[in-house]
Amino acid sequence: MSNYAETKPHAVLTPYPLQGHINPMFKLAKLLHLRGFHITFVNTEYNHKRLLKSRGPNSLDGFIDFSFETIPDGLTPMDGDVSQDLDSLRESIRKNCYQPFCEVLARLKDSANDGLIPPVSCFVSDSFMPFTMQVAEELALPIVLLFPSSAFTFLSVLHFKTLIQKGLIPLKDESYLTNGYLDTKVDWIPGLRNFRLKDLPDFIRTTDPNDLMIEFVIEVADRFHKASAIVFNTSNELESDIMNVLDSMFPSLYTIHIGPFASFLNQSPQNDLTSLDSNLWKEDTKCLEWLETNEPGSVVYVNFGSITVMSQEKLLEFAWGLANSKKPFLWIIRPDLVIGGSVILSSEFVNEISDRGLIASWCPQEKVLNHPSIGGFLTHCGWNSTTESICAGVPMLCWPFFGDQPTNCRFICNEWEIGLEIDTDVKREEVEKLINELMVGEKGKKMKEKAMELKKKAEEDTRPYGSSYMNLDKLIKEVLVKQK
Ligand code: UDX
Repeated sequence: MSNYAETKPHAVLTPYPLQGHINPMFKLAKLLHLRGFHITFVNTEYNHKRLLKSRGPNSLDGFIDFSFETIPDGLTPMDGDVSQDLDSLRESIRKNCYQPFCEVLARLKDSANDGLIPPVSCFVSDSFMPFTMQVAEELALPIVLLFPSSAFTFLSVLHFKTLIQKGLIPLKDESYLTNGYLDTKVDWIPGLRNFRLKDLPDFIRTTDPNDLMIEFVIEVADRFHKASAIVFNTSNELESDIMNVLDSMFPSLYTIHIGPFASFLNQSPQNDLTSLDSNLWKEDTKCLEWLETNEPGSVVYVNFGSITVMSQEKLLEFAWGLANSKKPFLWIIRPDLVIGGSVILSSEFVNEISDRGLIASWCPQEKVLNHPSIGGFLTHCGWNSTTESICAGVPMLCWPFFGDQPTNCRFICNEWEIGLEIDTDVKREEVEKLINELMVGEKGKKMKEKAMELKKKAEEDTRPYGSSYMNLDKLIKEVLVKQK
């Protein structure tokens, strides 16, 4: 005899196992929990171990109607606290996760039969997790795909096949990376104004006709047509032109600006999950205390997210650019930020910045961005960092690293005019000049005004009866708990 009312919906959520994908999925899980769902959140074993390490051994147990399951990612386990090799991870997930995921579902079914949990009724999966679609089809249950980036990146990805058909990719040879070819216009993609090849996700910068990443992205794009619905972590306000194009192509698109909902979540008296977050690294909270000691709008915040790596030479160019700008700064340097070794900063640099710079290894980014002392954000333009900066009204200096980041950078600098781009081959003089431009220059002032306008729109969007708020409601009623 079941202890659970049959009507309680049970969503199984599967993020792609990287920090920038786990965060929005986790917030979506909390939102659904708040709306009465039983949640099973499926991490890879490696990431779950890291979560427990950063949060404490029993920190993920004992939450009512919110539990965790794990699947192996198929890679050799590592002891370190570092990002896994991206290509190996992707290929391993493609090949190895279907069976363990079926085993998780079999366990959930047993528990439901024993009346311990409600039966699984829907899936919410990162669009980069191929095996979930197969399982949802086999069980004839609805599946919502969460696209971890912007709608304009989604639109770009949809056109990869056409880029191949037009002979624009793969590149003929390596020289095409530097001979100006990437400036070729691709303004035939509706919604992407004045786009060049270099503004598309950088997976296109390959010479390999059998490139596995391109193949993967095309598979991802094909799967969108099979999903019950697609969710973008963005707002209609930010990407209205793109949404107009996409709405005519896909019947079930929902823009839900998941990030800013966090504050709304924390205000809810029903929510017992406020202490639960998804950081794989342990946060260094002294950052917030240090920010308190600085003037409003005076600090440059520097963070390259969870995956970016750079050479020691480039790190030094950033370091001296920051030091020479004479502005206070908070710089988050992950232990694995420098390629092939540990971060080395000279004592000369450390002395030079001792009265105005703080370096830490991981921070509560949203709290940092929303601190009044933050005046600008030097970022790699990860999509989460981009929307978090917008929601905090903070203008950006952009140093895109890979994937969707060049595309995000294009929108930040050219469409929304809230950022300035740093050359890939970064030099300290340029960093110094652009920091000054951002923090005290005329351009910086204008960018700040525009960033504040976008922040206001983001707030309206997630308030009760705002468009993200309504879209979450619609997603639940039209897809996740659709009456038969
Ligand atoms: C990746 C991709 O780069 C990104 O473009 C894609 O859309 C999602 O996955 P990542 O490179 O880590 O993510 O960047 P980002 O998207 O910005 O995500 C990083 C997340 O970690 C953000 O939510 C940020 O708030 C959080 N973070 C990062 C912290 O909480 N503290 C830190 O010190 C650094």
